[in-house]
Amino acid sequence: MTVRRSIIVGVGGYLPERVVTNDELARRVDTSEEWIVERTGIRTRHIAADGEFTSHLATRASVKALLNAEVSATEVDLIVLATATPDETFPATATRVQEALGITRGAAFDVHAVCTGFIYALSVADNAIRCRQAETALVIGAETFSRIVDWDDRATCVLFGDGAGAVVLRAEEGEGSSADSGILAHKLHSDGRQHDLLYADGGPSTTGTAGVVRMEGRKVFRHAVENLAGVAHETLSIASLVLDDVDWLVPHQANRRILDGTARKLALPPEKVVITVDRHANTSAASVPLALWVATGDGRIGAGDVVLMEAMGGGFTWGACVVRM
Ligand code: ACO
Repeated sequence: MTVRRSIIVGVGGYLPERVVTNDELARRVDTSEEWIVERTGIRTRHIAADGEFTSHLATRASVKALLNAEVSATEVDLIVLATATPDETFPATATRVQEALGITRGAAFDVHAVCTGFIYALSVADNAIRCRQAETALVIGAETFSRIVDWDDRATCVLFGDGAGAVVLRAEEGEGSSADSGILAHKLHSDGRQHDLLYADGGPSTTGTAGVVRMEGRKVFRHAVENLAGVAHETLSIASLVLDDVDWLVPHQANRRILDGTARKLALPPEKVVITVDRHANTSAASVPLALWVATGDGRIGAGDVVLMEAMGGGFTWGACVVRM
């Protein structure tokens, strides 16, 4: 019996031109290069220009992913875009990308799970492909978090950046063994009781404004390592794999200490962990596909490698996905 599976056939990314250093932030709020690097590992972040929206970043990343996949935009019959910073309250930013790419068929919609958004989007698109609702899907994580950061709050403004990453998924029939390429398993979680630890204090139905990020950083930190390590184990076990099978961990890039702590808890050697937080900071839903783009682009991740992606964010939401490239 053959099994239908989603294969990652292309990866793309885009970062806005403007790079903001820690020293630049230290001229605005009471912080320093030393504090930011020691507590977070972040050295720089990219910030979108005026008039550069989430859909623009998403479209640029998607064009690169399609080129990398050698797939024409007209073949795409599903777009799932993960973002917490859509262009407008409605319609979905995915439909802006669809229009920009000249696609007039299939479905396009957004998913919202903040920093876990890309893992949620991958899972939704994979399910659609397995259920024969789609043949070729564009899965995007794109954010302009700089628009919802309180630039006077030193505890949060130093942490975030803007960017977008995208993958092209294609349906393929295979044996159904974990030796085949494709998405092998995913697992999603959420826990609404943790709302107050990480949220934006606005919204169309409450204040009528987008609000800004509010976070109890230390408490978020404590949950992060525990949740991420737990869901990594769960996902591998669904795929009948063990940690030794993992070639690369591509984690959500929130904080260097969270990345190191999770890798330690999983007993994964640091050289198997893809790190971009130093250059990109936390780009929320864009961080995992951007890291995947960097590590496939520089040749570290290659065909046949087992890649474990994981993320956690506001809600709380958290999840993981294991894929053989
Ligand atoms: N520069 C200088 N000092 C600062 C800054 C700053 N940018 N920000 C906070 N401080 C000060 C605080 O005011 C506090 O001072 P006090 O002791 O005089 O009160 C001191 O530094 C310690 O503050 P803490 O918040 O306890 O510092 P901590 O070591 O926990 O580091 C951080 C803060 C970096 C936010 C950390 O808690 C963290 O990374 N948490 C995870 C949050 C996160 O990554 N969120 C992103 C979304 S969720 C996700 O993606 C997983």
